[in-house]
Amino acid sequence: MDKFVIQGGRPLRGTVTVSGAKNASLALMPATLLAPGRFMLRNTPKLRDVATMTRLLESMGLALEQKDHTLFVDSSHIANQEAPYEHVKKMRASIYVLGPLIARFGRARVSLPGGCAWGPRPVNLHLEGLRKLGAQIDLESGYIVAKAARLAGARILFDISSVGATGNVLMAAVLAKGTTLIENAAMEPEITSLAEFLVSMGAKIDGIGTAHLEIEGVDDLHAADATTIPDRIEAGTFMIAAAMGGKGSNVRIAGCNPKHLGALVVKLDDAGATVRTGSDYVEVDGQEEIRPVNAATAIYPGFPTDLQAQWIAFMARANGTSTVTDTIYFDRFMHVPELNRLGANISVKENIATVVGVPGLRGAKVMSTDLRASASLILAGLAAEGRTEVLRVYHLDRGYESIEKKLQALGASITRERGEEF
Ligand code: EPZ
Repeated sequence: MDKFVIQGGRPLRGTVTVSGAKNASLALMPATLLAPGRFMLRNTPKLRDVATMTRLLESMGLALEQKDHTLFVDSSHIANQEAPYEHVKKMRASIYVLGPLIARFGRARVSLPGGCAWGPRPVNLHLEGLRKLGAQIDLESGYIVAKAARLAGARILFDISSVGATGNVLMAAVLAKGTTLIENAAMEPEITSLAEFLVSMGAKIDGIGTAHLEIEGVDDLHAADATTIPDRIEAGTFMIAAAMGGKGSNVRIAGCNPKHLGALVVKLDDAGATVRTGSDYVEVDGQEEIRPVNAATAIYPGFPTDLQAQWIAFMARANGTSTVTDTIYFDRFMHVPELNRLGANISVKENIATVVGVPGLRGAKVMSTDLRASASLILAGLAAEGRTEVLRVYHLDRGYESIEKKLQALGASITRERGEEF
């Protein structure tokens, strides 16, 4: 298993270009199940999770080929409507095939996603929404078994705004008979880009980008092309890395959409970082003094939970105490004990982390546990004095394309090495 070896304390300078968004790709790819034909998905990131979704769709009979950042998908010959546990256990987003399979084929057998590193992540809202559209859904030996002659439009209210449930129900409703209303729909940019892609395939959707979606079902859809939106979480990770880079750091994050990063720009500003934005870039200067700034995660456009760990790493070096509350995932704090190994002073009670800023961090061996937690360990290692080893970086490869190469181009001392087998 690979590890990253980091020599910290170097300023970061230069330009880094953001890849396509993992969480947008993972929604666009299953949408190709909804119509037979050839699709071209430009700006598709080269990530382990994209490879996992590719293998899942191939196991159903689709033909996929990624040439650099363009993914070609041929959904003309789909042989089965099954998502086996072997695939789903690797990636929860595999559940996104459920809605499209029921809508197009009237049946699906999809493994229930197992546990997650940081606690329960149920899919009840997905199932309730699909049942409201008329799907018969049973759970058999760890599998969701769904049947439906043809789905029918319905009024759906999500008790919790869920990205995944909104995406799944949206992909089902576009081929349902009649009109579907989704209230308290997720407004994340990844859902907006999915809805726009479905419209380009012939779907009828109103209210895109709002919490109120109105879908008028159609009898069939056709293949289409799309360009994957930039990854706002990758962009945010680099913005925080720059702010943590200390005096003399100056990083331009190119190819991103600053509108998707509003909450973070405000927080960085409050912390004393200098942030400049353009139409497709954000520029951040590092700073000596970091002001402590509380943060509470929220659904979009609030502060994203996928930047919570990185924000805690930043606040670990603030000149004072801050609290970071995760209102989306109550126990998403696996990174805290690892950051404390690097000399941070963080405690967690329920879903609130209290971060007592320290003058400096010191390098150590730390363990990745999940995607964003590992990103926070890299940021802390870059800011720490001495040598840090981040173990099990396969977590990072799920969602960051060649992160070490991008950081090296900014002047960081980070190398990928073969690590210990545990
Ligand atoms: C998406 O996950 C993202 N994943 C996550 O990013 C992100 O953290 C999350 O949205 C929140 O922004 C992808 O897009 C592939 P949710 P998702 O359904 O769809 C509860 C990353 O690091 N809930 O919006 O699974 C749930 O437990 C990943 O890139 C139910 O209770 O998130 C959570 O508390 C990690 N029942 C809340 O809703 C359900 O049926 C939001 O979850 C569904 C969700």
